[in-house]
Amino acid sequence: MKIVILGSGRGSNAEAILRAQAAGQLGSGRVVQVFTDKPETGILAHGKKFGVAATFLDPGPFKTKFDEAGEQRYIDEISKLTPDLVVLAGFMRILKPRFIDAFAGKIINLHPSLLPSFPGLDGIGQAWRRGVKYTGCTVHFVTAEVDGGPIIDQAAVRIESSDTLESLEAKVHAAEHEILPAVIARLSLR
Ligand code: GAR
Repeated sequence: MKIVILGSGRGSNAEAILRAQAAGQLGSGRVVQVFTDKPETGILAHGKKFGVAATFLDPGPFKTKFDEAGEQRYIDEISKLTPDLVVLAGFMRILKPRFIDAFAGKIINLHPSLLPSFPGLDGIGQAWRRGVKYTGCTVHFVTAEVDGGPIIDQAAVRIESSDTLESLEAKVHAAEHEILPAVIARLSLR
């Protein structure tokens, strides 16, 4: 199962996937390329460390969406790799139907809350401010509804009275690093 990872930031989830692959824990999954829409991100170093091509791909001038040329660039470059799975690992850009249709049923996203609670930006901060006692993370298929596609798996994290926003972030990220590679491994064995 050929996998392309898209990310925008630290890349800790891309690293978790690549680490699982190196440890033989990604089923038949094989990451062939990591793309980032930000030129200076940690995710580039993670690709390099694990010997997987990791490159910046210009998304166009907007911050949270593609312009038409950027969207086409992503569709073209990803299509060339004929992936079976496109993993959004912290890719902070809204995808429009043209992109989603190009890889229909093959795009999964990681979100840092128990969807359908707290979709959108800053899922961990939203849960923290709302005072819920459990939050967590969700892996779901991507559809045109933002953070609304079919849920594949979730992991719950309890918010203790001793937690701070920082400790909660660390717990959610740790849960993400477990669940995302595990979901990919399972999908690869379907
Ligand atoms: C992760 O917490 C992921 O759930 C979140 O971005 C972070 C990326 O971290 N994604 C979203 O909020 C998507 N709406 P990373 O760059 O260290 O993998």
